Amino acid sequence: MIHSLCYFSTADSSLGTNDFEELFEYVVTKNTSQEITGVLVYGQGNFMQIMEGPKKKIISIFNRIKEDNRHHNVIKVIEKDYPDRIFGKYDYGFKVVKDLTSLKELKNYITLLNNNPSKHTSKFISLIEHFLKNT
Ligand SMILES: Cc1cc2nc3c(=O)[nH]c(=O)nc-3n(C[C@H](O)[C@H](O)[C@H](O)COP(=O)(O)O)c2cc1C
Repeated sequence: MIHSLCYFSTADSSLGTNDFEELFEYVVTKNTSQEITGVLVYGQGNFMQIMEGPKKKIISIFNRIKEDNRHHNVIKVIEKDYPDRIFGKYDYGFKVVKDLTSLKELKNYITLLNNNPSKHTSKFISLIEHFLKNT
């Protein structure tokens, strides 16, 4: 079983380009080293993150994330055990989606997933699509 968690939040208005770059680099490096897969999507002042991995790790990371003052209004929308990872396939790993290139990559990945949909995959995909529609 793999533990998956999805939340939405609002970025702190004081964050500048360097703060974002520093955060994104940290998150990718840290998650990759801990076998956490998923996405952190940024758009229009909001974050959406999906992370999947061992339950204990996900819970402890999320507890830290909630306390992080670089964002606010952290709202968890899904937390559940699933039989497998969504972002473990085709070497996706953990990615930050913050520009058109990475967005295109995510969309391509979603198209691949949609060729072989499962119930839990479509739930996450509709959350991502909802977020992207509003950014
Ligand atoms: C939007 C956002 C997403 C984050 N995502 C992660 C994450 O996926 N993994 C992680 O280790 N830290 C993430 N962090 C950073 C943590 O909140 C925290 O700063 C980090 O775990 C270091 O904590 P420490 O200084 O107490 O060790 C995120 C922070 C923000 C603001």
